[in-house]
Amino acid sequence: YAGLTTKTLGHHLVYQDEIPSTQKKAQHLAEDGAEEGTVVLADEQTSGRGRLGRSWHSPKGTGIWMSLIIRPDIPIHKAPQFTLLTAVAVVKAVKHVTGLDCEIKWPNDILYKGKKFVGILTELQAEAADVKAIIVGIGINVNAAIDDFPEELKDIATSLRAEAGTAFDRAELIQEILKAFEDLYKSYMDEGFGLIKLLWESYAISLGRQIYARTANGTVVQGLAQGINDEGVLLLKDKDGKIHKIYSADIEISSQ
Ligand code: BTN
Repeated sequence: YAGLTTKTLGHHLVYQDEIPSTQKKAQHLAEDGAEEGTVVLADEQTSGRGRLGRSWHSPKGTGIWMSLIIRPDIPIHKAPQFTLLTAVAVVKAVKHVTGLDCEIKWPNDILYKGKKFVGILTELQAEAADVKAIIVGIGINVNAAIDDFPEELKDIATSLRAEAGTAFDRAELIQEILKAFEDLYKSYMDEGFGLIKLLWESYAISLGRQIYARTANGTVVQGLAQGINDEGVLLLKDKDGKIHKIYSADIEISSQ
């Protein structure tokens, strides 16, 4: 394969064998003025972070644990679009490298046959209403064996190797993700969110289905997933026909 083919993304690469969290490191680097396109990568995280205060299992040598620093000139209300952009980039890269067709569960989980193998965490540094930096954290179970997963993950999580029956080159996958991300980022800055929204919707599993959305403060909204709006917000229509905008939540897809 070609090696890193991006123009800027990943050219400044901070690599550590072991790190508490690439996300935390990238946050600090961004606060200290790290340039756009900086990537922090580690072979193992000792306190990997997930969404909503959870931890992220990041064992040595089997996964991709990385955080990207980008500095788009956009207002903060558009930042959630980058979570969706990232998910699309990862789905495309995984398809390219492994041939597997995976699915996106709003906003940011990537699943294969219903089991999660990618988590995305986007965090924001802002000044008033403007974005200063977006830190995009991507965690991918690449070559882990399900037997080595913690008990509570065995039924709900998977890895690319477990699904494809063969191991993959993590460097190749990283390069493809960075390339796909950079291309979509360019399309976003030149032409807006349209293409990304379309691609995202074509990979999404939750649209048109009954969803339970549990927000961070514990509120549950139930309704039909109508789609996402131009800001990347999920729209749920409840039984009275009222549309709810879901900014951040855990969703569960009802089986009926
Ligand atoms: C989720 O909860 O689904 C998001 C998980 C994000 C994990 C990645 S791994 C690289 C980066 N560093 C972290 O500590 N977390 C993110």
